Amino acid sequence: MKRLEKKVAVIIGAGQSPGVGLGNGRATVLRFAQEGARILAVDRSLDAAEETCNIAREKYNALEIEPFCADVRKESDLMDAIAAAERKWGRIDVLHYNVGVSVAGKDANATDITEDAFDFITQVNLRGCVMACKHVLPVMRKQQSGVILTVSSVSAWQRYPWVTYKATKAAMIAYTKQLAIENAQYGIRANTILPGLIDTPMAVDTRAVSFGKPREEVVSERNARVPLRSRMGTAWDVANAAVFLASDEAGFVTGVELPVDGGALVNIVR
Ligand SMILES: NC(=O)c1ccc[n+]([C@@H]2O[C@H](COP(=O)([O-])OP(=O)(O)OC[C@H]3O[C@@H](n4cnc5c(N)ncnc54)[C@H](O)[C@@H]3O)[C@@H](O)[C@H]2O)c1
Repeated sequence: MKRLEKKVAVIIGAGQSPGVGLGNGRATVLRFAQEGARILAVDRSLDAAEETCNIAREKYNALEIEPFCADVRKESDLMDAIAAAERKWGRIDVLHYNVGVSVAGKDANATDITEDAFDFITQVNLRGCVMACKHVLPVMRKQQSGVILTVSSVSAWQRYPWVTYKATKAAMIAYTKQLAIENAQYGIRANTILPGLIDTPMAVDTRAVSFGKPREEVVSERNARVPLRSRMGTAWDVANAAVFLASDEAGFVTGVELPVDGGALVNIVR
């Protein structure tokens, strides 16, 4: 028996940013496919979502997987994605909200932040998450079961220079806990994952391009900041945490924030 056998999962942010290696969203789709889930792979970039689906079919024995084009800044797109999954499979067991932007959204410190950057990042990181949940909750309440996973960040708790990413990721934790307690009576679990420094295209390649540094320099700077083995995590680490939280193994786990960070959050110097 696979760990997510036949579960229907809507994974939002299922493609990945350009660059070397594997992103968290794509790795999560691939692990969910390996574990037997049926997946709607949602992304603003249909090409990126299709690429994820092709890898899942060719290398990870995906049984049922479909790409879906949606921009999380539009509630109607999210509503359509949820409706498409329910129409196709008759239920939704897991909603995984992975989309998140920081540097690429022109985030800045407290004195340089612009209204446009703040609004854009908030729409993508937070409002999209809230709107996706708005539309999946009635489906899960009707079923009297379901799992919502949100991807926050250790930057919610650590010192972090840019204001909008910090504020939205912190808000996602509070929001997910509210979802957990308000929906416990319906058998719905809600948990959030807090990745630390992960070697993904979104984190490493975007910084290399934005700050005009070679990729290797960004990698070694980030590696040096990780307590566990002085090495960043990989997208598989985040995906494996998601598999656990989505599975029945976590059937009594709700309202938690799970750091996947190589010890970063216990390394706070006072
Ligand atoms: N890599 C790290 O070090 C790190 C650390 C902490 C948290 N995180 C979190 O992990 C998540 C990102 O992981 P990833 O590696 O999959 O990133 P990614 O950027 O590679 O993939 C995210 C996907 O979201 C899609 N997307 C962007 N804007 C969208 C929109 N408006 N509508 C729909 N789709 C959109 C992109 O096309 C992309 O395919 C984010 O939530 C990020 O904050 C990452």
